[in-house]
Amino acid sequence: MRFKNTATEFGLIAKIFHWSMALMMMSLLIVGFFMVSLDPAPFKFQVYGWHKSFGILILLMVAGRIIWKVSNAKLDSMVTHKKWEKILAKIAHLALYLGMIGMPLSGWAMSSSAGYPVKLFGLTLPALVAENKALGSLMNQTHEILGYVLVIAILLHAAGAFKHHFVDRDGTLKRMLSKPIEGSVPYLLVFLVGLFFAGALYFILLD
Ligand code: HEM
Ligand code: HEM
Repeated sequence: MRFKNTATEFGLIAKIFHWSMALMMMSLLIVGFFMVSLDPAPFKFQVYGWHKSFGILILLMVAGRIIWKVSNAKLDSMVTHKKWEKILAKIAHLALYLGMIGMPLSGWAMSSSAGYPVKLFGLTLPALVAENKALGSLMNQTHEILGYVLVIAILLHAAGAFKHHFVDRDGTLKRMLSKPIEGSVPYLLVFLVGLFFAGALYFILLD
């Protein structure tokens, strides 16, 4: 098992970053849309606390991921990748990075500007900005709108990966997986993405 990327396959570290952060981001989105509709009660504040901790963890991880990405080989595109697909994939990747950086920063700024503490699993972090009502409401709107943008970017990104796997039958998705699981996992991923979309839609409409 190779740790670093080659020109044809993602290495183990890039795969761990990708799949752990993909799961966390999809869960944070669902939990985010769900928790805002809860009645104010200890359970709601507990969920907010976990949401903030995992969100800050994403910020730390994305820093490590970017450092790893720039110090690794860039994968060549495949012959089956059409020009418009490459452009669309690049736009989706940019939106996904914008979400992985912008969501935690806007969340942290939203909490700090409203005077609420932000903890990383019990460790209190400094306020990102001073208390400011107008900034708080701007950050709240940014967090929400970026959340919708992310749901769309994830759907577009996953649909692209599934099209390559099930329609073009090339190795695009396989090079982000590993040999023993590349047969069954794509079906599980289709199920997970379907569940994610249904859940996100349900909680957005409920709010
Ligand atoms: C569960 C559904 C998902 C599937 C099937 C999937 C699949 C893939 C595949 C196959 C690639 C490699 C593309 C290539 O070789 O050009 C990739 C790359 C990437 N994915 Fe996903 N992905 C999913 C979810 C996510 C999520 C939720 C995020 C982030 C919020 C994400 C962020 C990225 C990024 C940024 C890249 C570019 C490579 C990198 O910088 O690490 N993916 N994904
Ligand atoms: C990193 C990934 C994150 C994702 C994907 C995410 C996602 C979301 C989503 C989708 C919502 C619901 C938005 C709405 O409907 O109004 C939400 C709400 C919220 N998020 Fe995040 N979030 C993340 C990180 C953070 C961080 C790091 C913090 C704070 C440190 C935070 C604090 C909050 C708060 C306080 C709310 C509730 C806002 C309200 O009550 O109106 N989030 N989040």
